[in-house]
Amino acid sequence: MKHGNHFTSCFQLSPHADYLALADKVLAFEPRSVRSRLQGHVIGVFFEEPSTRTRFSTESAAYRMGVQCITSLSPAATSIAKGESFEDSARIWSMYCDLLCVRHRLPGYARLLGRHASVPVINLGDGPLEHPTQGLATILHIASCFGRTKDVRICIWGDVAMSRCAHSVLIACVLLGAAVWLCPFPKRQLPEDLLRLLGATVPSCSVGIVDNVEDIPHPLDVLYVNRLQVERRADGDQVPYAKITSVDMAKLQKNGIVLHPLPRRGELPDEICCDTRVRIWQHAEMTLRTRQFLLYQYLANVAALPITDMPFETSECCGRPDCASSLFPSSQRPASRASEAGADALKKTCGACLRQVAR
Ligand code: NCD
Repeated sequence: MKHGNHFTSCFQLSPHADYLALADKVLAFEPRSVRSRLQGHVIGVFFEEPSTRTRFSTESAAYRMGVQCITSLSPAATSIAKGESFEDSARIWSMYCDLLCVRHRLPGYARLLGRHASVPVINLGDGPLEHPTQGLATILHIASCFGRTKDVRICIWGDVAMSRCAHSVLIACVLLGAAVWLCPFPKRQLPEDLLRLLGATVPSCSVGIVDNVEDIPHPLDVLYVNRLQVERRADGDQVPYAKITSVDMAKLQKNGIVLHPLPRRGELPDEICCDTRVRIWQHAEMTLRTRQFLLYQYLANVAALPITDMPFETSECCGRPDCASSLFPSSQRPASRASEAGADALKKTCGACLRQVAR
């Protein structure tokens, strides 16, 4: 199966698609109306990390459309515990399911699973790397609020080192021409590799980095808030736990919006959520609607999604222990053909975790 048929990264979002028109379709879509078309379909829902919104919204969308789910919440409950390779499991899961929805602790897992699956794979979170359905939902929410994505001013605030939602939103925003500032927690800066890939993919990309929201030289349309990913680093609790204040909110236009992928902790307190510009619950609904529309499009085989190949083809993988390629030994073989991308930076990118491959 071609890479582009899976949805594993916001790097796959087409910069040429009409996201406002797509948002309208997503909002108008009625899942119960496609029951007769999708009846008999089965999806695999494999989650190796905790989830409330993502898994429940996926399963709820499936059931509303008459689609059945096979859900597994731990590899320990599958033949992987008996030593079956992930490659073999991917082949078997593809026989039993029409689509695989996966969340895994290691970056690149969905991408590598997709190399061995004969049905589409949707990445619902690969460790700290990406959460592309969340990125797409955010772009659609922005398009429906502002009528466009180009030149929309967005600040991505919080743990931009480890938040996969922040990464996918950043990639989507840069690809679709938004003006982006990062306001990271101390010691939670964006990984260099992601910045390098963004620069190589969109040469005109400019991502501002500020210490405080008030340092951004323009009023903001969107403030995208993320929690500290305490579970992803040993020093998680030692980083100061900042919160959004009225000073940050003053930077937001009157018609601006505050989004958060949820769950929220202290970073977005109730007193700030009283502001009508905080749209976290509407955003949760947009993520549900986006996932149900995606499932429908994939299962009914309707080719209306703006999901293309990765802009850089990487067949080589790094094999580091904190990369999904450590689980897929076949991915560690050296690339059999040179990358099509011109830039050297892209040629040396691990096909799983998207970090540089050491030479
Ligand atoms: C996030 C996740 O799991 O990455 N939640 C979600 O999917 N809506 C955000 C988080 O855990 O911080």
